[in-house]
Amino acid sequence: MRILITAGPTREALDPVRFLSNRSSGKMGYALAEAAKEEGYEVTLVSGPVTPISPEGVNLVKVESAQQMWEAVQSLCKSAAPDIAIHAAAVADYRPKIVQSQKIKKRDEALTLELERTPDVLGSMRTVFGYQGFLVGFAAETEHLVENAMTKLQRKSCDLVIANDVSRADTGFDSEENEVILCFPSGNTEPLPKQSKRSLAREIIRRVATLAAEKEHP
Ligand code: PMT
Repeated sequence: MRILITAGPTREALDPVRFLSNRSSGKMGYALAEAAKEEGYEVTLVSGPVTPISPEGVNLVKVESAQQMWEAVQSLCKSAAPDIAIHAAAVADYRPKIVQSQKIKKRDEALTLELERTPDVLGSMRTVFGYQGFLVGFAAETEHLVENAMTKLQRKSCDLVIANDVSRADTGFDSEENEVILCFPSGNTEPLPKQSKRSLAREIIRRVATLAAEKEHP
């Protein structure tokens, strides 16, 4: 059984030395990759630039930008479609419309940046990549956690969305622990208590394996 996991931030270049990014450390996604490997999956980890080392035996695909992540996931879905895809990456929603070829020189007056939307990797899975497998999204929210997660679940035709509150210091970005709410297409939810990302990842992989099998053989 093949599983694809996206992890980490993306970097959206402004000029040769500057970029826009976010505080994702990759810990959640790398923990999911390790847990999936332990469960016997063939794991492909598409990762933005992070510090954690990829677990042994995991096929690591390194990317920088949202565009590169989109292309890497598209190519994987075409060549060896995974049975399960879990999108834990904090993909930038916007990028500078123009990438300067030379370092922008600072001037006294203000600098205005025009940003444009990046490709939506999760949002492309069903509609552009024709992905039919078990699709898991994450929702990084600061308010209306379940409501926003359910909207994403419907809009992106996910089989599960894992919602986490990223306004807290002790969970979400770059924390050792996380606390999530599993959001299902039925509208049902199930909270998973705060715990280490490694332990939470094992629980998530176990749940996803069971749900994916049930979807395959209802
Ligand atoms: O990496 P850590 O430091 O361990 O932190 C973990 C985490 C907080 C990053 C992780 O738990 C998490 O919430 N990941 C999703 C972050 C995110 O971008 O959430 P979102 O609600 O903005 O995006 C919703 C979903 O769409 C996500 O599955 C995301 O991967 C995906 N997305 C978003 C934008 C985009 N252009 N393409 C996408 O695929």
